[in-house]
Amino acid sequence: MTKFTAAITSVGGYVPKDILTNEDLAKMVDTSDEWITSRTGIKERHIIKEKGIAASDLGVEAVKIALEKRNMDPSEIDLLICATISPDMRVPDTANTILDKIGAKNAWGFDINAACSGFLFALTTGAQFIESGMHKKVVVVGSDVMSTVVDYTDRTTCILFGDGAGAVILEASEEGFGLQDSVLRGDGSGRNMLNIKAGGSLMPITNEILEGKDMYIYQDGKSVFKAAVNGMSGAINQLMARNDLAKEDISWIVPHQANKRIINSIGEYLDFPMEKVMTNIAKYGNTTAATLPLCLFDYESQLKKGDKLVFTAFGGGFTWGASYLIWAYDGQ
Ligand code: UT7
Repeated sequence: MTKFTAAITSVGGYVPKDILTNEDLAKMVDTSDEWITSRTGIKERHIIKEKGIAASDLGVEAVKIALEKRNMDPSEIDLLICATISPDMRVPDTANTILDKIGAKNAWGFDINAACSGFLFALTTGAQFIESGMHKKVVVVGSDVMSTVVDYTDRTTCILFGDGAGAVILEASEEGFGLQDSVLRGDGSGRNMLNIKAGGSLMPITNEILEGKDMYIYQDGKSVFKAAVNGMSGAINQLMARNDLAKEDISWIVPHQANKRIINSIGEYLDFPMEKVMTNIAKYGNTTAATLPLCLFDYESQLKKGDKLVFTAFGGGFTWGASYLIWAYDGQ
């Protein structure tokens, strides 16, 4: 029987047009461009200012770009998985809204909530449907509208996040391109260090909750920082060891974009040249589930068929991991 691997065959990315700069934030809270740049590497982030635009709309734009580049009709999609922590609504899921908006009539879909590891988990999940032979074409989307869950009076979080979406198309490869292996982990004891407490069954939204601001994102930055560096470095180490990968074999590291200092720490830990570590945090901030596909979208023209990519992410849950993928085409 033919063994299929799940290759990425196209990439799309989209961010809203409005930009929130460090200077803008310095007028809103007690912060400065100097502090934000030196502590995070972020200069600006894109955010949705118009009412009525949601995670599905950003996702739709990213998917349309990916489909167009591959010359693929929406009717060819078998499955769409959307990683998001800012879905349009609690019910229904955002994946099915994206499928409806792009006119994909022969597909099914569902969402994955794994915070900043969402895209990594969704990529690995989507690949299973290709590898099993059940589906031929799977779309994986990461889309988050973080501006809807950020408290713009809290200087410790409002400087970090931006809105955006990215999407990839997965197709069966008989030549071994695509996803090779993933190390994925979770540790629910980290739930008190990074969360959005209200809006679920534990803490339904009431007037009291709104006053207490529990519907906004909270994080214990220092603890999360340490856990993120350890988690991502450990997962990469394990992935490299069990796939016999030396650092010289790796063409690109594709890391979650939460903090430039975290990205640098991973590069240093691996003793890996920083010019081969994808970094676009300066212009987007942390777009949660969208960071990895937005990196691919920005760096696609530099990618070559056969390049070995190592993805890594860490996020609320805690959730984290690393994936090893062989790139399937020369970027244009
Ligand atoms: O994507 C999901 C995973 N998330 C992450 O990986 C994020 C991990 N954490 C981080 O990136 C960093 O911890 C932060 C960027 C959030 C914070 O950086 P830090 O170097 O850990 O700063 P800190 O929290 O230790 O704060 C240092 C000081 C404090 O003042 P005192 O107590 O020393 O007087 C803060 O109050 O900086 C202050 N501070 C700020 N000052 C100016 C905190 N935020 C700001 C701000 N502007 N925006």
